[in-house]
Amino acid sequence: MKIFVDTAKLNEIEEACSWGIVDGVTTNPSLIKRAVDDLRVNKKSIDIEEYIGKICKTVGEGRPVSLEVISLTSEKMIEEAKLLYEKFNPIAHNVVIKIPINTRTDKGETTNYEGLKAISRLSKEEIPVNVTLVMNVGQAVLAAKAGARYVSPFAGRVDDYIRKKLGIEFQKGDYFDFQLVKRVASEKLNQKIGDRVNKPLATIYLDEDTKRAVSLGQDDGLYSGVELVKAIVKIFRIYGIKTEVIAASIRNPRQVREVAEAGADIATIPFKVLEKMLQHPKTVEGIEKFSEDVVPEYRELFNMG
Ligand code: E4P
Repeated sequence: MKIFVDTAKLNEIEEACSWGIVDGVTTNPSLIKRAVDDLRVNKKSIDIEEYIGKICKTVGEGRPVSLEVISLTSEKMIEEAKLLYEKFNPIAHNVVIKIPINTRTDKGETTNYEGLKAISRLSKEEIPVNVTLVMNVGQAVLAAKAGARYVSPFAGRVDDYIRKKLGIEFQKGDYFDFQLVKRVASEKLNQKIGDRVNKPLATIYLDEDTKRAVSLGQDDGLYSGVELVKAIVKIFRIYGIKTEVIAASIRNPRQVREVAEAGADIATIPFKVLEKMLQHPKTVEGIEKFSEDVVPEYRELFNMG
């Protein structure tokens, strides 16, 4: 699995690149806001063009940097995509344009189809597209069909959606134990079926309580963002679809492990989660003991002065 860093903070990108683990970077307007806010706090003047240029250069050739458009109509998104591509791709030939799958808002300003139109036009013109805000399998399949180079299912946000439906309170980095939710839902369903076992099947099937038990804690049959990633990967493999799956909206190391097991081509990981992936109390304990146990004879070996 390739690792992208999900950040627009240059200091984080530089640090992660120095570890030799970065295969690419993903940004979005919120991540750019966080980077710009940091610069403002440090009272540095901001030349955004120069700043994004530095990101592309730092990440380097062959390692994609996703930059997102900001408009909601296909025409404007295509214009912005071309502007971003022309401005920044010459720096390290690594720019990928992020297009939302669907730009319709609650205010209904645009249609559901603007994203797809922009994805297919840009892909035909060989501008690589990373389709963002993918929350279900249908969106991923349509994006791939329209020619997307990458699709980004938002695992964490799907978990947020399901947890909210369940009324579970959580912090952003909390792991969502969807296997537990699944087991409880299945127990509840078994109970319901048990209570009505002598009734006709249709009575059980149509019973409101049963329906509630079945739909508990899932979104369109999937119990978590990880299951969404897994379903998309499976479908793309069955049909030999070349579009790569970027597991996005990753919030904790356990999710990284699960999307890797699900066969995601790429995980885009926030810097803080990368740091957490390196931590384990037994590693700390081990390094302390190794340092304590160094005998003078062994230390002497390294005395190069
Ligand atoms: C990835 O491409 C997205 O920008 C990002 O993963 C969103 O993560 P969030 O849901 O934690 O904001």
